[in-house]
Amino acid sequence: MSNPTLTSTFPLAGRPVSRVGYGAMQLAGPGVFGPPQDRAGAIAVLREAMALGVNHIDTSDFYGPHITNQLIREALHPYAEELVIVTKVGALRGADGSWLAALEPDQIRRGVEDNLRNLGLEALDIVNLRNMGQIHAPAEGSIAPQVEALAELQRRGLVRHIGLSNVTLTQFNQARGIAEIVCVQNQYNLVQREDDALLDELTRLGIAYVPFFPLGGFTPIQSSVLARVAACIGAKPMQVALAWLLQRAPNILLIPGTASLAHLRENMQAAQWPLTDEALAELDAIGRHPA
Ligand SMILES: NC(=O)c1ccc[n+]([C@@H]2O[C@H](COP(=O)([O-])OP(=O)(O)OC[C@H]3O[C@@H](n4cnc5c(N)ncnc54)[C@H](OP(=O)(O)O)[C@@H]3O)[C@@H](O)[C@H]2O)c1
Repeated sequence: MSNPTLTSTFPLAGRPVSRVGYGAMQLAGPGVFGPPQDRAGAIAVLREAMALGVNHIDTSDFYGPHITNQLIREALHPYAEELVIVTKVGALRGADGSWLAALEPDQIRRGVEDNLRNLGLEALDIVNLRNMGQIHAPAEGSIAPQVEALAELQRRGLVRHIGLSNVTLTQFNQARGIAEIVCVQNQYNLVQREDDALLDELTRLGIAYVPFFPLGGFTPIQSSVLARVAACIGAKPMQVALAWLLQRAPNILLIPGTASLAHLRENMQAAQWPLTDEALAELDAIGRHPA
């Protein structure tokens, strides 16, 4: 029998979304730079995600840059009523593919305009302020000017809801004093557990937590424990990594990234693998000790 924790939806900006969504970053070319090698394949992955019940897609105009949003528009526009597209601002790409901070209020405004144009929208559902920090981990420092710039765009009707990415608990609390924050997207997975305290606080508050790199990112998680637990129940290791996240907290929404139809289908089945207490304990230990 399926576990209700695994099959439920969770509200994202007040809209119930399936807990397994889709992260579109992997659709751009190598290094998230330039066009995909298989454009038709990328379009097919997006359409299949929707067909499989995805109603939460994560993207940004700095993926490609522009490419990922243009693919989403080509594949899915006009968008289904139930689809929540979450994008982010705060970075730009150099000519060599480097990731550059773009956190001046003017750059935030231009980032929103770029997302609107390339997604073909008049208003963005949710915009995450992507703080630079230490690239994949947050660093303390005020984010007030950036949140205020997004709040101004919200007042102008260009942004419906505001989220944060790569932030600390202190920055989350600072931002909440300026605007309502509907989600936080930080790095978190079976082996990267530095964000446990912030996740617990968002669970308490009933705010969505959306881990980026849920499978480990560019180098997917490798763990003998994960492989053993998966083999015991007849699942794939990446399905168990996602099932563990679904069972970690009810407010976790998944956005696994893939350019592969086969992997997409596997990931969409993650909710079908409820984990026993014993398996959860074994998996929990991975994050506390070397895998
Ligand atoms: N806010 C931020 O700073 C930030 C940073 C990074 C990412 N993100 C968002 O988070 C999303 C998820 O992160 P991510 O895509 O970088 O990393 P991820 O979901 O942790 O892992 C993606 C990697 O796992 C592989 N993969 C996916 N499903 C698999 C499966 N079933 N079996 C084996 N391998 C599998 C993918 O390769 P294949 O393509 O071959 O399947 C890809 O190499 C992104 O798409 C993006 O939207 C946000």
